[in-house]
Amino acid sequence: MSPYNKPDFWSLQAQKEGYPARSVYKLKEMDEKFGLFRSFRGFRSKSGSPTPFKVLDLGAAPGSWSLYALQKMGGQGFLAAADLSPLSRGYGKGLFNGDNFFFLQGDITAAETKELIVSYGPFHLLMSDAAPGTSGNSSADALRSLALAEAALEYAESALAKGGNLVVKVFQGGGTPKLLKHIRERFAIGKGFKPQACRRESFETYYLGLDKKDPGKR
Ligand SMILES: C[S@@+](CC[C@H](N)C(=O)[O-])C[C@H]1O[C@@H](n2cnc3c(N)ncnc32)[C@H](O)[C@@H]1O
Repeated sequence: MSPYNKPDFWSLQAQKEGYPARSVYKLKEMDEKFGLFRSFRGFRSKSGSPTPFKVLDLGAAPGSWSLYALQKMGGQGFLAAADLSPLSRGYGKGLFNGDNFFFLQGDITAAETKELIVSYGPFHLLMSDAAPGTSGNSSADALRSLALAEAALEYAESALAKGGNLVVKVFQGGGTPKLLKHIRERFAIGKGFKPQACRRESFETYYLGLDKKDPGKR
């Protein structure tokens, strides 16, 4: 059995706690460490009235990050999500069927997907766990992962509110330092973080952009 097929501690924990994927523990750790949802309830419109906290989840299937976000918002706020694959809707006791959730099955790099998803913003948290299927060629896989991470940054550029947070998965490789530089230019804090639930043999890591700057004041 390959290490990827063998149920490990995190997979068993996910089964026990009712999440469709072990990846939920990566998000949970980053949320606990960096307060990704901290400004929940804190956003205000230009007129000063509170605005609903909005989350965007790119590469969302089978749905554990989406489920975590919906649970965290406790029936308030709004979540938009997209993936090439459908969600595992049997999880979450009906949370995926609420009015505060929109899911689009489509390619996040396609213009029509972006146009529709962006129309649900502006968002206060953008999470992208999107990853290409791995081919065994680590340089090619890193390039495809970078293209997905760059697509997520384009969503952040047009649809993430000032003060919003970003978390994006990347496979470590050639273009990642440039990506981090780009994040640091656009957010008050930009950093890399590898959660404990990442498989030890995996090249994946996450980049975080915290507190998006006012585009006019970069
Ligand atoms: C690691 S999984 C995400 C797991 C998810 N965060 C969860 O917790 O259930 C990566 C996802 O990225 C999606 N993906 C890869 N390329 C994509 C693309 N171009 N557009 C949309 N989704 C994509 C895959 O279909 C896959 O479901």
